Amino acid sequence: MTAYFVLKFLHIIGACVLLGTGAGIAFFMMIAHRTGNAATIATVARIVVLADFLFTATAVVVQPITGVALAWDVGYGLTERWIIWSVLLYVLAGVFWLPVVWMQMEMRKLATKATEEGTDLPQRYFTLFRTWFAFGFPAFAAVLGIIWLMITRPS
Ligand code: HEM
Repeated sequence: MTAYFVLKFLHIIGACVLLGTGAGIAFFMMIAHRTGNAATIATVARIVVLADFLFTATAVVVQPITGVALAWDVGYGLTERWIIWSVLLYVLAGVFWLPVVWMQMEMRKLATKATEEGTDLPQRYFTLFRTWFAFGFPAFAAVLGIIWLMITRPS
């Protein structure tokens, strides 16, 4: 087995983790939110934050490393247009993903507090949820765009 196949394997697993964790987290948070139950939301938000730190953050770091190594191994220049666009989309995804993680932590905090105090979820929770929902679209679209660019590699 050559270094190329190992790198490509890791790179594609990284892509699966980014897309899969992103979609999974969005699904579980949305279903938890729809229950309207603060304790459920608190528990799911706790798990989701953990998953983002364990899986998404790891893939976020590993993906450019394996990507640059692949480019070097295959002989692509890092200034090729599809790579530049991918990196720009990657930065765009990060710009939306970082606040999403923060919002998940805030929602977790508010839902935990409401559970402990036996109160309703505060208005701020709902504002955060709406913003979280809206931020997910550009981040997810950017990742889909990167995958399309990586597969088609338009010149
Ligand atoms: C951020 C910097 C990145 C760089 C420099 C980079 C670089 C590369 C390179 C050079 C290849 C071609 C390998 C080959 O010719 O066999 C490749 C393939 C691939 N990349 Fe990336 N990549 C990056 C990020 C990403 C991200 C964020 C994703 C997905 C979320 C991704 C998904 C893929 C996939 C699925 C392939 C396989 C495409 C195919 O063989 O048809 N890459 N990448």
